[in-house]
Amino acid sequence: MTLELKAVNSGYGQTQIIRDVSMSCRDESITVVVGPNGAGKTTTLKTVNGLIGAWSGSIVFQGEDVTRLRAFERVERGMASCPEGRRLFPRLTTEANLRLGAYSKRARKSVEETLEDVYGLFPRLRERAGVAAGRLSGGEQQMVGIGRALMAKPSLVVLDEPSLGLSPKLVGEIFEKTQELRKRGLSVLLVEQNAFQALQIADYAYVMQEGKVVNEGPPSKLMDQEELKKAYFSIE
Ligand SMILES: Nc1ncnc2c1ncn2[C@@H]1O[C@H](COP(=O)(O)OP(=O)(O)O)[C@@H](O)[C@H]1O
Ligand SMILES: [Mg+2]
Repeated sequence: MTLELKAVNSGYGQTQIIRDVSMSCRDESITVVVGPNGAGKTTTLKTVNGLIGAWSGSIVFQGEDVTRLRAFERVERGMASCPEGRRLFPRLTTEANLRLGAYSKRARKSVEETLEDVYGLFPRLRERAGVAAGRLSGGEQQMVGIGRALMAKPSLVVLDEPSLGLSPKLVGEIFEKTQELRKRGLSVLLVEQNAFQALQIADYAYVMQEGKVVNEGPPSKLMDQEELKKAYFSIE
């Protein structure tokens, strides 16, 4: 198992946001988290990657309890994230943004090789290597965000709404690349508003609502449930 959350509680300041969240991400699989705005999806991911601390419960990554480890220590162990809204450095070039992802000891040894892998996955980024990230299209910026996470040589990639604001064609492309990551042996934890499309590529999915996991299962099971169809997938 790549990642296991066991009864995790966390929040901001005194405000509890997520409650008893338990989730698992298997090796070489895509785990999707769906749910309405404000459900606590981003907060869950931040607790996973260590940007905020868990109040209780545990986070086990590749058999090691990482609950008390800092974010960079989790990166060293092979967990990399692309945050909501991507957070690129707009004045730096595409390639400079990518290279920033390789700051961990784990990644530093093989930067050039990993960069080649990322360009192999996103040929468009090689063409745009010398262009300031702020001048890229939304889709290209998202590719840089994912590529930067890959530069850390992760075994788990955590992606927060990578399709946000992209055209349907680009959304499809991002989901194809996500499947390619699985083929390359990575495990992906993906939060998505595009629930219907995300479930098409998921191996397993969780539905969150008001800070809790309210449903889980293989995508076929979730897509069969009438209430979910109406609430999240906009299909009648
Ligand atoms: N930095 C923060 N400080 C305080 N509350 C926050 C912060 N970020 C998010 N929240 C609150 O946490 C709740 C869950 O937000 P979030 O995890 O971003 O949900 P989602 O990603 O599912 O839309 C929301 O009510 C939101 O207002
Ligand atoms: Mg969010």
